[in-house]
Amino acid sequence: MPAIVVVGAQWGDEGKGKTTDILGTRVDYVVKPNGGNNAGHTVVVGGEKYELKLLPAGILSPNVTPVIGNGVVVNLEALFTEIDALQARGARTDHLKISANAHVVVPFHQTLDKVTERFLGKRAIGTTGRGIGPAYSDKASRLGIRIQDLFDESILRQKVEGSLKQKNELLVKIYNRRAVDVDETVDYLLQFAERLRPMVADTELLLNQALDAGKVVVMEGGQATMLDVDHGTYPFVTSSNPTAGGACVGSGIGPTRITRSVGIIKAYTTRVGAGPFPTELFDDMGLYLQKTGGEYGVNTGRPRRCGWYDAVVARYAARVNGFTDYVLTKLDVLSGIEEIPVCVGYDVDGVRLDEMPTSQSDFHHATPVYETFPGWKEDITSARSFEDLPRNAQDYVLALERLSGCRMSVIGVGPDREQSIVRHSLLD
Ligand code: GDP
Ligand code: IMO
Ligand code: MG
Repeated sequence: MPAIVVVGAQWGDEGKGKTTDILGTRVDYVVKPNGGNNAGHTVVVGGEKYELKLLPAGILSPNVTPVIGNGVVVNLEALFTEIDALQARGARTDHLKISANAHVVVPFHQTLDKVTERFLGKRAIGTTGRGIGPAYSDKASRLGIRIQDLFDESILRQKVEGSLKQKNELLVKIYNRRAVDVDETVDYLLQFAERLRPMVADTELLLNQALDAGKVVVMEGGQATMLDVDHGTYPFVTSSNPTAGGACVGSGIGPTRITRSVGIIKAYTTRVGAGPFPTELFDDMGLYLQKTGGEYGVNTGRPRRCGWYDAVVARYAARVNGFTDYVLTKLDVLSGIEEIPVCVGYDVDGVRLDEMPTSQSDFHHATPVYETFPGWKEDITSARSFEDLPRNAQDYVLALERLSGCRMSVIGVGPDREQSIVRHSLLD
């Protein structure tokens, strides 16, 4: 009856999708608790590449019931486009369940996302432009539209009217855009209702009953700890709580049911969008990591900023998520680098810090203090046990384990499902 939560430890794109996919063969349910189609998870199965945005990666395992939890904001157009694309490739999608309490992203959220970014100018967040922030703002302001509202036209109309009354003032008077029509928005939403109906469920009850019956549930977090609206580099964050606590809220699974909290962390660091990133590289090495690691966003195609592994971030993420295990991904990308620096602390205006600075301005000024480890030349993509790794690669992993506040239970040596070294099982 374990509930396992999978959380990004850095700024996203650590390989969460691959991790839930690997677990898929022994899991019964995979629930996405937060975010929306701002995520992008690439999963490679037998050489076939799948790119998932809104759907949990667990959908690629036919025996897993995929669930979109109450904490997700759902763009229905994006949902059905993704379902159709998977169906066309022969993947099973008929068993998808969606929480009646999940909120809906409507086109005016995307408009607001874009105009707000433009308005911020130099202070723009670099969002994915998917309307995520405005949809979560509406949820918190109690102006949101939920999946269940699509099945009661009169309620839906009232909610759309309520939401647009305020937004049209903003759009027309501040942003100089045209007002959004209530009828158009209601019709837009209603076109999805009948296709959606059979998928909608009390997923909070379903998941708890599954746990009662001894089933295994994975909570597949989108985004990452450093993008968490509470624990991340605010305001350069997303608008949900991608941390382990947020996964409880976003799925309706209580914290006492979680048996493992698994952090996914890359052997180096990447970030998409604006915001502080102490170990960022601006030289050829940054470009090398970008190219060798294929660090281009799945969602928006933007190149990812690249830098060295930051153990301060790793320790911080281990702490706020109570990690029991780390999955270290993309170790293979570091093969061939002569010496590998790892950030072990920060220098902030002459003061050495071993933990995340409390103040965001200090984090902006933080200069990494590096410890350097010898690299290895061998191709490690065929390694399947820890002993198959060259000595220096083993030592690098052990050093990260010592510095990161949690054991390194699984090591990724390539994008395929098979390219993993399991040191400690995540399920037993
Ligand atoms: P997610 O958003 O956390 O699911 O991660 P993304 O899918 O956005 O980015 C991770 C990328 O790394 C994907 O292209 C994966 O196929 C790839 N990947 C995952 N694990 C490994 C690994 O161990 N080695 C290599 N080379 N690629 C990996
Ligand atoms: P996965 O699940 C990387 C970033 C955006 C931006 C900030 C806010 O694939 O790891 P938003 O559109 O959410 O309002 O954008 O968050 N961001 C991600 N970066 N991976 C993601 O998801 C991300 N989801 C959002 O680039 O900086
Ligand atoms: Mg991603």
